Amino acid sequence: MTAKRAAPKPSRKKRPTTPAPAPASIEAVPLAVGTKSHPLLGLGLWGLGRWSAEDEARTKATIARAYELGIRWFDTAEVYGAGRSERLVGDVLRRASGGGGEALVVTKLSWEHLRASQVRASLVRSLDRLARGSVDIYLVHAPDDRVPLAETMPALEALWKEGRIGAIGVSNFSVAQMEEAARHLKETRLVVNQVRYNLFDREDGEAVVPYCREHGIVVEAYTPLARGLLHGRYLDGRQPPAEVRQFAQDLFGASTLPEIVARARELRRLAEEAEVPLPSIALHWLRSRGAAPVFGASRPAQVEENVAAWAVRPPEDVLARAEAIARGERA
Ligand SMILES: NC(=O)c1ccc[n+]([C@@H]2O[C@H](COP(=O)([O-])OP(=O)(O)OC[C@H]3O[C@@H](n4cnc5c(N)ncnc54)[C@H](OP(=O)(O)O)[C@@H]3O)[C@@H](O)[C@H]2O)c1
Repeated sequence: MTAKRAAPKPSRKKRPTTPAPAPASIEAVPLAVGTKSHPLLGLGLWGLGRWSAEDEARTKATIARAYELGIRWFDTAEVYGAGRSERLVGDVLRRASGGGGEALVVTKLSWEHLRASQVRASLVRSLDRLARGSVDIYLVHAPDDRVPLAETMPALEALWKEGRIGAIGVSNFSVAQMEEAARHLKETRLVVNQVRYNLFDREDGEAVVPYCREHGIVVEAYTPLARGLLHGRYLDGRQPPAEVRQFAQDLFGASTLPEIVARARELRRLAEEAEVPLPSIALHWLRSRGAAPVFGASRPAQVEENVAAWAVRPPEDVLARAEAIARGERA
């Protein structure tokens, strides 16, 4: 599972007259259902509620740059920016070369809309915003114990049969919940489980990877860069902002942060010693664990850096040392 060739060198300067660089070839794996394959690196458009006009313009430029650089998997959800994220992805892909038709677009059914009577209306609203007749993969964003999957899954399967969903997946599901979801699909199967998974936050990923491998389900790893920490952010005294601390209290809480930062600094030393970018270690460690990272980015330069990082594949022994450091096993 390697990038086939190096990504083009990142360029931070705007050169409107220069043709777009040749896109990187990001390896993809076949999906168990449908004809599309699933790239092993993707861009997530959560956006964190930053949706001013200026932020939207920057987000659009970020999506467009990702497409230019060869990213073909875009992750969004009906809840991201209350639909704004889907609208921006749809808008940029419509203008992309070939209408962005070869991109794998993943969106999610909100945990608030899991009733059989709500599923179709949610998908139709998402498709309107995405400006597409169908979505490639539709994920249940998260389970809700109050709504049985016996309600949600058949409603999704009906939409799959109509061709409005290319394939069905889930997010934040345990193995037991995946088994329960699969029981209510008669003619199709789950293709994806998207879970939080990074070097510092392994529990959810490790709990589902063996089952997913056995059943041909792609594990999509969200928060692969630990909100920038695994890119080297917050290692030189800068404190994580409230929105980041709130999202990942187990990493960024007052009692855990000093130790996590100490380990991240050690990872940075390892990266320097191995002469690879720190995010190459973070992203390829996930690949080596059988997961496909979906990173977030709020500006084009971040996409450039992350695509360039993916093009560098650290040796296995470096990934093993990184895991030991992240676990707190000091060298
Ligand atoms: N299914 C779910 O429940 C769920 C939950 C969370 C996320 N997701 C998906 O996963 C995606 C990624 O999650 P995430 O945003 O938490 O992942 P992440 O990749 O760990 O963090 C992304 C953030 O890290 C910083 N960053 C990224 N590249 C950088 C670079 N080259 N240099 C410096 N900083 C960099 C940026 O922060 P700044 O923007 O502050 O600059 C960016 O927004 C989301 O967009 C969403 O699509 C899904």
